[in-house]
Amino acid sequence: MAFTIADAPEFELDGTREDVHAYFREIREKAPIARTRIGHVLALRHRHLDLITRDVTRQIETETKMMQGITSGPIYDFIANGMLFANGDAHLRRRAPVSRTFAFKLMDAMRPKAAALAAELVSERIGRGPIDFVNEIAAQIPARIIADILGIPRADLPVFMQWIADTAEALGFIDLERRAKIEKSLVNFNAYVENLLMERRAHPREDFLSDYVRATATDGVLTEDEIRTQIVGLILAGSDTTRGSLCMILAHLLTRPDQWAAFRANPDALKRGAVDEGLRYDPVISGIPRIAFKPFEIDGYAIPPGTPVSVAVISAMRDPEAYSEPDRFDIFRTDHPKWHPIFGGGAHRCVGEALARAEMEETLAAIARLAPATALVGAFPRLAPGPIRQVGRMEVAFA
Ligand code: HEM
Repeated sequence: MAFTIADAPEFELDGTREDVHAYFREIREKAPIARTRIGHVLALRHRHLDLITRDVTRQIETETKMMQGITSGPIYDFIANGMLFANGDAHLRRRAPVSRTFAFKLMDAMRPKAAALAAELVSERIGRGPIDFVNEIAAQIPARIIADILGIPRADLPVFMQWIADTAEALGFIDLERRAKIEKSLVNFNAYVENLLMERRAHPREDFLSDYVRATATDGVLTEDEIRTQIVGLILAGSDTTRGSLCMILAHLLTRPDQWAAFRANPDALKRGAVDEGLRYDPVISGIPRIAFKPFEIDGYAIPPGTPVSVAVISAMRDPEAYSEPDRFDIFRTDHPKWHPIFGGGAHRCVGEALARAEMEETLAAIARLAPATALVGAFPRLAPGPIRQVGRMEVAFA
């Protein structure tokens, strides 16, 4: 006999728990799924990762925003026109010109730029005592690299970064008190990107944005709003995620002297392993949400259509069925799956993975090379609970 969702243990994460992974372990040992008080299902096992792509769930579209009372306006339009919260044909149309032009080769070619930028930012701060790592380094790398890819003039960087800081929340749960501020910045951000696109149409260059404009012109199937929204979406999807990940990977490395010593002795050989392990061990994305559109079962639990189901990657990546000694941080680990779960799967798998990896790997390697005696200062950074876990304060001293 199948279980129902009501039989699953209740999950409530209120932000006061010190060790969120211990909480997930406790729940996972009771049952393969959990339910929140409002009936959302969390699938907790590594074997559940395929629920993201199986023909029983779909991407959530504008529902989450509507539940917050956001039914029109710039935030709503951003969600309604983007690729991330779309399904089927709309998703394919919107993603195709991006995946064709924002290609692995282009992203990997950003490695030397990421390395040079990290070297510049770190060198300026060596021996200066504690610095705000989150804002002075981790937020700068993704924002400045995407600005470079888009050909944004250096003089515009401060306002560009401010828009990112103001609007990144549009992707997730909105603090409604901030809605007006987010929307005001989003309107300005949209206008700025619109201008970049117009400029490339008039004067094409040898760059990503010109290729993208060309790809959308050939396809001729996207509206102006859709063309612009994919670019704003790229900028925002790569910001908080990369920033938080970089912080957590470095914090875990620095607080394990043996692993940091090994890493700084050979950063080029170990940077891939360090990033893989950091992304597994303390991920900034805790779950990948979907909605059931057909009845199906997860390990004997019946899931009716209409149920929101999140694959809790944070739990799946500590599943002892998939990783040996999952609670051990080990940059030498050899049991990472070929496709890292933190970047999702199937049609929506992250288009920025290669870029994010290049940025994180090159920044960590630059720190190890230029400032091998770097230390974490003060408290270990905390990640706030939520689907995208925002990083709190983190100070380091480069030396
Ligand atoms: C460590 C950094 C990153 C992580 C952990 C991450 C994670 C993810 C995940 C899990 C998804 C799939 C979401 C879903 O299926 O619902 C996704 C999609 C996406 N990511 Fe990333 N991402 C990162 C960095 C980036 C970067 C740097 C960019 C671009 C510059 C980017 C752009 C996107 C876009 C546009 C999508 C939507 C793809 C689609 O819906 O087809 N991401 N990302």
